[in-house]
Amino acid sequence: MNFTLASGELTAARTPCLMTSFQAAKKIAKTSGNQSAFNRATQDFKDTIGNTLCIQMEGAIARLLIIGGTSETTAPNYAKACDVAARTLIKLPVGQALVALLDCKVKGKDAPWKAQTLLQAISHAAYQFNRYKSKPIPPHQLKRIRIQAPTKSSPSVQRTITLGNALDAGMALTKDLGNEPPNVCTPLYLLAEARKMARNPKVKVSHLDEKKMLSLGMGAFMAVSQGSDNPGRMIIINYNGGAKNQAPIALVGKGITFDTGGISLKPPPTMDEMKYDMGGAAAVLGATKAAIEAKLPINLLTIVAAAENMPSGGATRPGDIVTTSSGKTVEILNTDAEGRLVLCDALTHAQTFKPRTIIDVATLTGACIMALGSHASGLFANDDALADDLLEAGQDTGDRSWRLPLWDDYQAGLNSNFADMANVGGRGAGSVTAACFLSRFVDDTPWAHLDIAGSAFYSGANKGSSGRPVPMLFKYLVNQS
Ligand code: BES
Ligand code: MN
Ligand code: ZN
Repeated sequence: MNFTLASGELTAARTPCLMTSFQAAKKIAKTSGNQSAFNRATQDFKDTIGNTLCIQMEGAIARLLIIGGTSETTAPNYAKACDVAARTLIKLPVGQALVALLDCKVKGKDAPWKAQTLLQAISHAAYQFNRYKSKPIPPHQLKRIRIQAPTKSSPSVQRTITLGNALDAGMALTKDLGNEPPNVCTPLYLLAEARKMARNPKVKVSHLDEKKMLSLGMGAFMAVSQGSDNPGRMIIINYNGGAKNQAPIALVGKGITFDTGGISLKPPPTMDEMKYDMGGAAAVLGATKAAIEAKLPINLLTIVAAAENMPSGGATRPGDIVTTSSGKTVEILNTDAEGRLVLCDALTHAQTFKPRTIIDVATLTGACIMALGSHASGLFANDDALADDLLEAGQDTGDRSWRLPLWDDYQAGLNSNFADMANVGGRGAGSVTAACFLSRFVDDTPWAHLDIAGSAFYSGANKGSSGRPVPMLFKYLVNQS
C-alpha cells in the first residue's frame, strides 16, 4: 500500500472514493449538489461505530463512504472504527481512495495518532497471502491511499505517513515469513530473506553456520538444531543508520521454523501452527526492515536464532546435558522447551557487540497464552525504564504488552541435580521460569523479553500471522531515534 498526504479543500477533491465521517460527508454532498440523493440514501443510517454506507455521487467525488461514529469518540472506539473502515474500503472496486477521518474528536489524541491508527488498520486489512492457491484469488484493487490532514498538523502527519509506509513494508515481511509453510521457510530461507536487506549500503548481513557455532561452544543452540536435516543458522544484521561510535540496540528473535517438540513430541492437533514458532525472528526482521525503510538514525543489531526442532536419531534426548557458549551447563529435561536453548546462545552472542539495550522476541511459552490470551504480549525486563518504554510504545500503537515478574523467587524452579540449571521449571508460571532462564544469560545490559506465543498469530478460521509486535518495536525504535 502506498500512503500519501492530501491537503487542500475537501470540497475541491477529485477521487473515486472519499471515506469520511457522516458530518463531513453531509457537507460534501451539499456543496457538490448531491444533497437530495444523500438525504434519501442516509435516511435509515445510524451514525454509530460499526455502521458504514457507500453512496454513489455525481461529480468529482464518485463515491462517499461514510464511517459511522467518527465525529467524536474515544481512542479505543476510534481504532475500532478504523478497522471497520479499512475492511469496508478494501472491498470496493477502487484503486485509490481519499480518507478524511482525522477531524474526528478523540479525547487525548492528536492528528498524528489518528493517522497512525488509520494507517495500521488499512495496512492490516489490505494484507493478503494467496501465493499457494492454484486458482489465484483476485487481489483487492486498492493501491494508493491519500490521507487528508488538517493544514496545521500536516507536517507531523506527513512524518507519520512516512513512518507508516515503512511499517507497512516491515509488517508485510513479518506476515509473509510467518505464513510461509515450514517446508519453505527454513533457517536457510530466513537467511536468504535477511540478505535482501543488505542491498542497502548501511546494512551488513552475516551468519554463523553450524560448524562455526560448534567452535563457539553454542551447545544449547546445537542441541535443538542437531535433530533436523535443515541446518541451523545464527543470522546477524547490522544496520548503521546512527553515529559510528553509538552502541546499537539489539533485537534478538526466536526463529524455530518448525517446532515438533523434538523427542518430547507435541500432540498432533494444531501442531501445524508451530510453523509460526519463528514469529520472533519474523518480527525482529520486520522491525529491522521498517527501521531501514524509514532511514532511522540509529544503530541496530538484529540476531535471529534460526533452527528446526525435529525428532530424529540424532536428536537431543530428555536428560542430555549441554554446555552453552556462556560456559553454563543445562540439563535438557524437555526438548520442547527449545526456544530458550537457541536464545541463550543468541543472547550471549549479542552481548559481544556491546549493545546498549537488548530486546528478545519469542513465541516462547504456551503458558503465556494461558496467562494473557492473545491481546497482550508478555513483557519481562531487568530494567524498569526499558519496560516502561516498551509498554508505552505498545499502548500508543494498540500493540500492547503486559509486564510479568522476573523475581528471584522463581529462579529456584530451574534447579537441576546434575547441571547448572534445567531447561524447564515446575508446573506453575511457565512463562516466568522461561524468562528466568533467559535472564541468566544477560549480564548488566538493560534487557527485555517479549513472549509473543499468543499475539504473533491468529488460530482457527482466521489463521495467519498478526505481524505483532512489529508496531510496538518500530515505535520504540522511532522513539529512541
Ligand atoms: N513454541 C512453543 C510455545 C508455543 C505454544 C508458542 C503455543 C505458540 C503457541 C515452545 O517451544 C514450547 O513448546 N514451550 C513449552 C514449554 C514447556 C515444555 C516448558 C510449552 O509451552 O508447553
Ligand atoms: Mn517447543
Ligand atoms: Zn517453540
